[in-house]
Formats: sequence, C-alpha cells, structure tokens
Amino acid sequence: MRLQNKVAVITGAASGMGKAIAILYAKEGAKVVVSDLNADAANATVEEIKANGGEAIGIAANVAKEEDIQNLIDTAVGTYGTLDILVNNAGIMDNFVPAADVTDELWDRVFAVNATGPMRAIRKALPIFLEKGNGVIVNIASIGGLKGSRAGAAYTAAKHALIGLTKNVGFQYATSGIRCNAIAPGGVNTNIGTTMNNPNAFGMEKAMSGSGNNPRSGEPEEIAKVALFLASDDSGFVNGTVVTADAGWTAY
Ligand SMILES: NC(=O)c1ccc[n+]([C@@H]2O[C@H](COP(=O)([O-])OP(=O)(O)OC[C@H]3O[C@@H](n4cnc5c(N)ncnc54)[C@H](O)[C@@H]3O)[C@@H](O)[C@H]2O)c1
Repeated sequence: MRLQNKVAVITGAASGMGKAIAILYAKEGAKVVVSDLNADAANATVEEIKANGGEAIGIAANVAKEEDIQNLIDTAVGTYGTLDILVNNAGIMDNFVPAADVTDELWDRVFAVNATGPMRAIRKALPIFLEKGNGVIVNIASIGGLKGSRAGAAYTAAKHALIGLTKNVGFQYATSGIRCNAIAPGGVNTNIGTTMNNPNAFGMEKAMSGSGNNPRSGEPEEIAKVALFLASDDSGFVNGTVVTADAGWTAY
C-alpha cells in the first residue's frame, strides 16, 4: 500500500497507460480521480476500481480547456479534501506531419493537449502542494520528447516542451517538498493509434525508419509501475528528471 490515503488526479485515465495507472494507484491505496474526455469510458475505469475494492470517482475533463482543469482539481479537492499526486497523462498523436506541412490548427491542437494542458494542471495544483509542503507530479512524456524523429513536428516539439516544463518545475519547487518527474515511454500497446487518421507518408517513413531497432513494444501496466515508483516515497530523491521506459530502444 505505497499510496495509502493519497489523492491522485490522472488525466486521460479511460484508456491505455492512464487507465493502468489509475487501477494500480487504487490498488496501492490511493483515492483516484479518473478524468478523461470520454466520460463513459472514465466511469468504466471507476467501476473496475470499485469492483476491486478501490476508491475512485470519474470526472469528464478536456485538458485543452482551462475551465475543465479548474473544475477537475476543484472537484477532486471538494470530494477527497486535498490533492497529493497529479499525473498528466492525456495526449494525442499528430499524424506524423513534418514541419513543411504542419498547419497552425494541428500545431495548436497538439500543444493544447500535450503541453498547455499539463502546464495548466500543474499551475492549478501547485498552490495546494505549496500549502501542504508536499506533492508529486508525474508527466507522461515520450521518447519523442528526447529524440528528434519519433513522430511529427508538433508532437516532438510538444513532448520536448513537457520535458522542459518537468525539469523547470522539479528544480524550482524542490525545496518546497514538491517533486516533478516525467516518464518517456517507447512504443506501448494502447489506443493512441485511434488519434491518427491519414498519416503523412513522408513523416511516417522518417519516424518509422528507426523502428527496426525497437526491441519490443510495452504494455500499459509496465508504464504504470514506473508511475507508481515516481508517485511514491520510494522515489523521494528523484526529481526534475525523465525516466525512460522503452525496452532499450533509445540506447541504440
Ligand atoms: N502508446 C504509445 O506508444 C506512447 C508512447 C509514448 C508516449 N505516449 C503518451 O502516453 C500518454 C497516454 O497515451 P496512451 O498511449 O495510453 O493513449 P490512449 O489513446 O490509449 O489513451 C489516452 C487517453 O487520453 C484521452 N484524451 C485524449 N485527449 C484528451 C483531452 N484533450 N483531454 C482529456 N483526455 C484526453 C483519451 O480519451 C484516452 O482515454 C499520452 O500522453 C501519449 O502521448 C504514448
């Protein structure tokens, strides 16, 4: 029970890694706020947690909307009295669109979900953490946030931005009892492919050119275990950094 009585908000928790993190955190004793764009699927995750004897509520929230972030954190605190752990997990792909073809609309949409949403959730959580002198942030980035061509221009830039934000927050609030780390997953078997339609052929070829070096794809539960480590006191000395979980793909 490494998260006994901790209150955790997880974005994008109706599917893939977010869902696996929500289920594992609840098993470890956390009260979990399962939030997602997809309210029905979020509630299905809540039911699964409750069926296993865990504690959770579902909240519909589009992380690209400031008012949804406000409502998400306010409802979490209103329901469970506080906030201890924020997991910025919601994210979308960018159809592998390269820089020559990226539109303002695509760039803004990908940044809104993958970078601005996490910034707003962190901005909203920090005053709560500062008052307690305690709090943990886990951002689900990507090896696309460390390397140059795992996706299109917008996704790559947004995940680099998220890693920069992670380091900035981690250092600047370190003496206030707050830790902020990121996970950089490699390829993981989730539903993220559904956020792509008609991928750009040039961009996809460039992005996929290193895929032969990928030892294997991971399962969402393997990322959840890293997210548990980063949320728990086991990682008390780990801050402002990125844990890569990719079976060694980026080591090549
Ligand atoms: N799957 C991979 O190979 C992979 C690799 C590296 C990083 N990631 C990152 O992992 C994170 C989780 O993705 P996943 O692979 O589990 O995908 P997924 O599509 O299975 O799950 C993502 C969830 O986020 C939700 N979501 C999407 N946009 C949202 C929004 N605006 N507001 C709230 N919720 C929203 C979706 O409804 C979905 O339930 C993402 O940030 C993604 O970029 C994924």
